[in-house]
Amino acid sequence: MTVHFLTLGDLPLAAHQKVFDRAVSLKARRKRGERDTTLAGRTLVLIFEKASTRTRLSFEAAIGQLGGQAITLSTTDSQLARGESWADTARVISGYADAVMIRTFADARLQEFAKASRVPVINGLTDGGHPVQLLADLFTIRERLGSIEGRAVAWVGDGASNMARSWIEAARIFGFDLRICAPAGYRPQPAELHERAKLVETPAQAVEGADVVTTDVWTSMGQEKESAQRRQAFAEYCVDSALLSKAKRTTIVLHCLPAHRGEEISSDVLDGPQSAAWDEAENRMHVQKALLEKLILAPTT
Ligand code: CP
Ligand code: NVA
Repeated sequence: MTVHFLTLGDLPLAAHQKVFDRAVSLKARRKRGERDTTLAGRTLVLIFEKASTRTRLSFEAAIGQLGGQAITLSTTDSQLARGESWADTARVISGYADAVMIRTFADARLQEFAKASRVPVINGLTDGGHPVQLLADLFTIRERLGSIEGRAVAWVGDGASNMARSWIEAARIFGFDLRICAPAGYRPQPAELHERAKLVETPAQAVEGADVVTTDVWTSMGQEKESAQRRQAFAEYCVDSALLSKAKRTTIVLHCLPAHRGEEISSDVLDGPQSAAWDEAENRMHVQKALLEKLILAPTT
Protein backbone atom coordinates (compact mmCIF):
# COMPACT_ATOMS: atom_id res chain seq x y z
CA MET A 1 0.00 0.00 0.00
CA THR A 2 1.30 3.47 -0.89
CA VAL A 3 1.19 5.95 1.99
CA HIS A 4 1.60 9.60 1.05
CA PHE A 5 2.64 12.43 3.36
CA LEU A 6 0.60 15.36 2.11
CA THR A 7 -0.44 16.59 5.55
CA LEU A 8 0.63 15.67 9.10
CA GLY A 9 -2.64 13.78 9.52
CA ASP A 10 -1.57 11.24 6.91
CA LEU A 11 0.38 9.46 9.66
CA PRO A 12 -1.11 8.46 13.02
CA LEU A 13 0.47 9.91 16.17
CA ALA A 14 2.20 6.60 16.97
CA ALA A 15 3.91 6.63 13.56
CA HIS A 16 5.07 10.23 14.12
CA GLN A 17 6.55 9.19 17.47
CA LYS A 18 8.44 6.33 15.79
CA VAL A 19 9.75 8.73 13.14
CA PHE A 20 11.02 11.04 15.90
CA ASP A 21 12.61 8.13 17.81
CA ARG A 22 14.36 6.95 14.67
CA ALA A 23 15.50 10.53 13.89
CA VAL A 24 17.12 10.74 17.35
CA SER A 25 19.12 7.63 16.56
CA LEU A 26 20.01 8.70 13.00
CA LYS A 27 21.18 12.09 14.27
CA ALA A 28 23.31 10.50 17.00
CA ARG A 29 24.80 8.02 14.53
CA ARG A 30 25.77 10.80 12.15
CA LYS A 31 27.33 12.83 14.99
CA ARG A 32 29.42 9.77 15.87
CA GLY A 33 30.52 9.46 12.24
CA GLU A 34 28.64 6.22 11.64
CA ARG A 35 27.17 5.55 8.20
CA ASP A 36 23.82 4.08 7.19
CA THR A 37 22.78 2.39 3.96
CA THR A 38 19.11 1.68 4.65
CA LEU A 39 18.01 3.33 1.38
CA ALA A 40 20.81 2.01 -0.85
CA GLY A 41 19.63 1.73 -4.44
CA ARG A 42 16.55 3.90 -3.77
CA THR A 43 15.73 7.04 -5.74
CA LEU A 44 13.98 10.16 -4.47
CA VAL A 45 12.67 12.61 -7.07
CA LEU A 46 12.28 16.24 -5.95
CA ILE A 47 10.06 18.61 -7.94
CA PHE A 48 10.22 22.35 -7.26
CA GLU A 49 7.81 24.98 -8.52
CA LYS A 50 8.98 27.47 -5.86
CA ALA A 51 12.45 28.38 -4.63
CA SER A 52 14.15 26.39 -1.86
CA THR A 53 17.44 26.08 0.00
CA ARG A 54 16.75 23.94 3.09
CA THR A 55 14.10 21.62 1.68
CA ARG A 56 16.10 20.78 -1.41
CA LEU A 57 19.42 20.31 0.37
CA SER A 58 18.06 18.47 3.39
CA PHE A 59 16.20 15.95 1.22
CA GLU A 60 19.15 15.51 -1.16
CA ALA A 61 21.54 15.05 1.77
CA ALA A 62 19.10 12.73 3.58
CA ILE A 63 18.66 10.22 0.77
CA GLY A 64 22.34 10.46 -0.21
CA GLN A 65 23.57 9.80 3.33
CA LEU A 66 21.30 6.73 3.52
CA GLY A 67 22.89 5.31 0.38
CA GLY A 68 20.24 6.41 -2.12
CA GLN A 69 20.09 9.01 -4.83
CA ALA A 70 18.16 12.25 -5.36
CA ILE A 71 17.07 13.61 -8.74
CA THR A 72 15.85 17.20 -8.68
CA LEU A 73 13.48 18.53 -11.29
CA SER A 74 12.34 22.09 -11.76
CA THR A 75 8.94 22.76 -13.26
CA THR A 76 10.46 25.43 -15.50
CA ASP A 77 12.77 23.11 -17.45
CA SER A 78 10.72 19.92 -17.53
CA GLN A 79 7.72 19.05 -19.68
CA LEU A 80 5.47 20.26 -16.83
CA ALA A 81 6.32 23.76 -18.12
CA ARG A 82 4.96 22.75 -21.52
CA GLY A 83 1.66 21.51 -20.18
CA GLU A 84 2.19 17.79 -19.46
CA SER A 85 -0.29 17.04 -16.70
CA TRP A 86 0.78 16.35 -13.12
CA ALA A 87 -1.10 13.05 -13.27
CA ASP A 88 0.74 11.87 -16.42
CA THR A 89 4.04 13.01 -14.89
CA ALA A 90 3.24 11.00 -11.75
CA ARG A 91 2.56 7.84 -13.76
CA VAL A 92 5.94 8.13 -15.46
CA ILE A 93 7.96 9.04 -12.36
CA SER A 94 6.42 6.11 -10.46
CA GLY A 95 8.40 3.85 -12.77
CA TYR A 96 11.73 5.46 -11.84
CA ALA A 97 11.47 6.59 -8.25
CA ASP A 98 10.83 5.11 -4.79
CA ALA A 99 9.41 8.39 -3.47
CA VAL A 100 8.65 11.88 -4.75
CA MET A 101 8.74 15.20 -2.92
CA ILE A 102 6.86 18.14 -4.43
CA ARG A 103 6.94 21.87 -3.64
CA THR A 104 4.19 23.69 -5.47
CA PHE A 105 1.44 26.32 -5.18
CA ALA A 106 -2.10 24.88 -5.06
CA ASP A 107 -2.68 21.78 -2.92
CA ALA A 108 -4.88 20.47 -5.75
CA ARG A 109 -1.74 20.00 -7.89
CA LEU A 110 -0.06 17.90 -5.21
CA GLN A 111 -3.24 15.88 -4.76
CA GLU A 112 -3.58 15.28 -8.51
CA PHE A 113 -0.01 13.99 -8.57
CA ALA A 114 -0.49 11.81 -5.48
CA LYS A 115 -3.67 10.24 -6.84
CA ALA A 116 -1.83 9.02 -9.92
CA SER A 117 1.42 8.08 -8.14
CA ARG A 118 2.30 4.48 -7.31
CA VAL A 119 5.09 5.63 -4.95
CA PRO A 120 4.87 7.77 -1.78
CA VAL A 121 4.46 11.51 -2.36
CA ILE A 122 5.70 14.03 0.21
CA ASN A 123 4.47 17.60 0.52
CA GLY A 124 7.56 19.81 0.45
CA LEU A 125 5.43 22.99 0.92
CA THR A 126 2.24 24.13 -0.75
CA ASP A 127 0.10 27.22 -0.25
CA GLY A 128 -1.88 25.15 2.26
CA GLY A 129 0.85 23.66 4.45
CA HIS A 130 4.45 22.75 5.18
CA PRO A 131 4.22 19.45 7.07
CA VAL A 132 7.87 18.37 6.71
CA GLN A 133 8.90 21.66 8.33
CA LEU A 134 6.56 20.90 11.22
CA LEU A 135 8.23 17.52 11.70
CA ALA A 136 11.54 19.33 12.26
CA ASP A 137 9.89 21.96 14.46
CA LEU A 138 8.19 19.40 16.69
CA PHE A 139 11.33 17.27 16.81
CA THR A 140 13.28 20.36 17.93
CA ILE A 141 10.75 21.05 20.69
CA ARG A 142 11.08 17.45 21.87
CA GLU A 143 14.87 17.68 21.74
CA ARG A 144 15.04 21.00 23.63
CA LEU A 145 12.10 20.67 26.06
CA GLY A 146 11.69 16.90 26.37
CA SER A 147 8.05 16.72 25.26
CA ILE A 148 5.49 18.28 22.93
CA GLU A 149 2.17 17.30 24.52
CA GLY A 150 0.64 19.97 26.74
CA ARG A 151 3.12 22.68 25.71
CA ALA A 152 2.02 26.25 24.97
CA VAL A 153 3.11 27.52 21.56
CA ALA A 154 2.69 31.14 20.44
CA TRP A 155 2.31 31.89 16.74
CA VAL A 156 2.87 35.59 16.01
CA GLY A 157 2.42 36.65 12.38
CA ASP A 158 0.53 35.52 9.30
CA GLY A 159 -2.20 33.26 10.67
CA ALA A 160 -3.37 32.23 7.21
CA SER A 161 0.04 31.08 5.92
CA ASN A 162 1.07 27.54 5.08
CA MET A 163 3.17 27.39 8.27
CA ALA A 164 0.34 28.62 10.50
CA ARG A 165 -2.01 26.08 8.97
CA SER A 166 0.38 23.22 9.62
CA TRP A 167 0.88 24.41 13.21
CA ILE A 168 -2.91 24.37 13.66
CA GLU A 169 -3.04 20.79 12.38
CA ALA A 170 -0.10 19.81 14.59
CA ALA A 171 -1.77 21.19 17.74
CA ARG A 172 -4.71 18.84 17.21
CA ILE A 173 -2.59 15.76 16.51
CA PHE A 174 0.13 16.31 19.13
CA GLY A 175 -2.08 17.82 21.84
CA PHE A 176 -0.44 21.18 22.55
CA ASP A 177 -2.01 24.61 22.92
CA LEU A 178 -1.46 27.00 20.03
CA ARG A 179 -2.16 30.69 20.58
CA ILE A 180 -2.38 32.49 17.27
CA CYS A 181 -1.93 36.24 17.12
CA ALA A 182 -2.42 37.74 13.66
CA PRO A 183 -3.83 41.02 12.34
CA ALA A 184 -7.34 41.19 10.91
CA GLY A 185 -7.42 39.91 7.37
CA TYR A 186 -4.57 37.47 8.06
CA ARG A 187 -6.25 35.15 10.53
CA PRO A 188 -7.14 31.50 9.97
CA GLN A 189 -10.67 30.63 8.89
CA PRO A 190 -12.79 30.13 12.05
CA ALA A 191 -13.58 26.57 10.90
CA GLU A 192 -9.85 25.72 10.96
CA LEU A 193 -9.55 26.59 14.64
CA HIS A 194 -10.22 23.96 17.30
CA GLU A 195 -10.01 23.35 21.03
CA ARG A 196 -6.21 23.40 20.99
CA ALA A 197 -5.75 26.27 18.49
CA LYS A 198 -7.22 29.61 19.53
CA LEU A 199 -6.86 33.24 18.54
CA VAL A 200 -5.49 35.77 21.03
CA GLU A 201 -5.67 39.54 20.79
CA THR A 202 -2.11 40.76 21.27
CA PRO A 203 1.40 39.39 20.65
CA ALA A 204 2.08 39.89 24.38
CA GLN A 205 -0.88 37.67 25.32
CA ALA A 206 0.37 35.02 22.90
CA VAL A 207 3.90 34.81 24.30
CA GLU A 208 3.14 35.20 28.01
CA GLY A 209 4.00 31.85 29.63
CA ALA A 210 4.57 30.19 26.25
CA ASP A 211 7.13 27.38 25.96
CA VAL A 212 7.72 28.10 22.29
CA VAL A 213 7.41 31.31 20.25
CA THR A 214 7.33 30.93 16.50
CA THR A 215 6.80 33.06 13.44
CA ASP A 216 7.40 33.16 9.69
CA VAL A 217 7.80 35.72 6.92
CA TRP A 218 4.97 38.20 6.43
CA THR A 219 4.98 37.64 2.68
CA SER A 220 5.12 34.05 1.51
CA MET A 221 6.27 32.86 -1.89
CA GLY A 222 3.66 33.78 -4.47
CA GLN A 223 2.41 36.82 -2.49
CA GLU A 224 5.22 39.20 -3.47
CA LYS A 225 2.82 41.76 -4.97
CA GLU A 226 1.20 42.22 -1.55
CA SER A 227 4.44 42.80 0.33
CA ALA A 228 4.08 46.58 0.92
CA GLN A 229 0.55 46.16 2.24
CA ARG A 230 1.60 43.21 4.38
CA ARG A 231 4.57 45.10 5.85
CA GLN A 232 2.09 47.70 7.06
CA ALA A 233 -0.44 45.20 8.41
CA PHE A 234 2.19 43.22 10.35
CA ALA A 235 4.24 46.17 11.66
CA GLU A 236 3.29 45.40 15.30
CA TYR A 237 4.00 41.68 14.94
CA CYS A 238 7.78 41.49 15.18
CA VAL A 239 9.28 38.86 17.49
CA ASP A 240 11.92 41.08 19.08
CA SER A 241 13.62 41.12 22.47
CA ALA A 242 10.92 43.36 23.97
CA LEU A 243 8.25 40.82 23.05
CA LEU A 244 10.38 37.83 24.06
CA SER A 245 11.02 39.38 27.49
CA LYS A 246 7.30 38.81 28.19
CA ALA A 247 7.78 35.05 27.73
CA LYS A 248 9.87 32.81 30.00
CA ARG A 249 13.65 32.60 30.22
CA THR A 250 13.33 28.97 29.10
CA THR A 251 11.09 29.78 26.11
CA ILE A 252 12.59 28.71 22.80
CA VAL A 253 12.13 30.57 19.52
CA LEU A 254 11.55 28.76 16.24
CA HIS A 255 11.57 30.09 12.68
CA CYS A 256 11.38 27.85 9.61
CA LEU A 257 13.73 30.22 7.73
CA PRO A 258 14.50 32.02 5.51
CA ALA A 259 13.98 35.03 7.80
CA HIS A 260 13.46 38.65 6.92
CA ARG A 261 15.56 40.05 9.74
CA GLY A 262 14.03 43.19 11.21
CA GLU A 263 10.55 42.31 9.93
CA GLU A 264 8.94 39.26 11.55
CA ILE A 265 11.98 38.61 13.79
CA SER A 266 14.83 40.78 15.04
CA SER A 267 18.44 39.69 14.57
CA ASP A 268 19.15 39.69 18.30
CA VAL A 269 16.34 37.16 18.86
CA LEU A 270 17.19 34.98 15.84
CA ASP A 271 20.87 34.88 16.82
CA GLY A 272 20.21 34.98 20.57
CA PRO A 273 20.41 32.28 23.27
CA GLN A 274 16.70 31.41 23.10
CA SER A 275 16.74 30.78 19.35
CA ALA A 276 16.51 27.13 18.30
CA ALA A 277 16.12 28.07 14.63
CA TRP A 278 19.54 26.82 13.56
CA ASP A 279 19.09 23.39 15.15
CA GLU A 280 15.59 23.37 13.65
CA ALA A 281 17.09 23.85 10.17
CA GLU A 282 19.60 21.04 10.73
CA ASN A 283 16.89 18.77 12.10
CA ARG A 284 15.07 18.96 8.76
CA MET A 285 17.59 16.43 7.44
CA HIS A 286 17.56 14.04 10.39
CA VAL A 287 13.76 13.86 10.56
CA GLN A 288 13.34 13.55 6.81
CA LYS A 289 15.73 10.58 6.81
CA ALA A 290 13.40 8.86 9.26
CA LEU A 291 10.35 9.88 7.23
CA LEU A 292 11.85 8.52 3.99
CA GLU A 293 12.69 5.20 5.68
CA LYS A 294 9.15 5.01 7.04
CA LEU A 295 7.39 5.77 3.74
CA ILE A 296 9.69 3.69 1.52
CA LEU A 297 10.48 0.70 3.75
CA ALA A 298 7.60 0.34 6.20
CA PRO A 299 4.60 2.40 5.08
CA THR A 300 1.95 0.49 7.01
CA THR A 301 3.64 -0.24 10.34
N1 CP B 1 12.11 26.24 5.60
C1 CP B 1 12.18 25.94 4.31
O1 CP B 1 11.37 25.19 3.76
O2 CP B 1 13.22 26.53 3.66
P1 CP B 1 13.48 26.55 2.09
O3 CP B 1 12.43 27.42 1.46
O4 CP B 1 14.86 27.11 1.95
O5 CP B 1 13.38 25.14 1.56
N1 NVA C 1 5.58 30.76 4.43
C1 NVA C 1 6.83 30.70 3.70
C2 NVA C 1 7.62 29.51 4.14
C3 NVA C 1 8.95 29.36 3.46
C4 NVA C 1 9.71 28.15 3.92
C5 NVA C 1 6.54 30.65 2.21
O1 NVA C 1 5.64 29.92 1.81
O2 NVA C 1 7.20 31.38 1.47
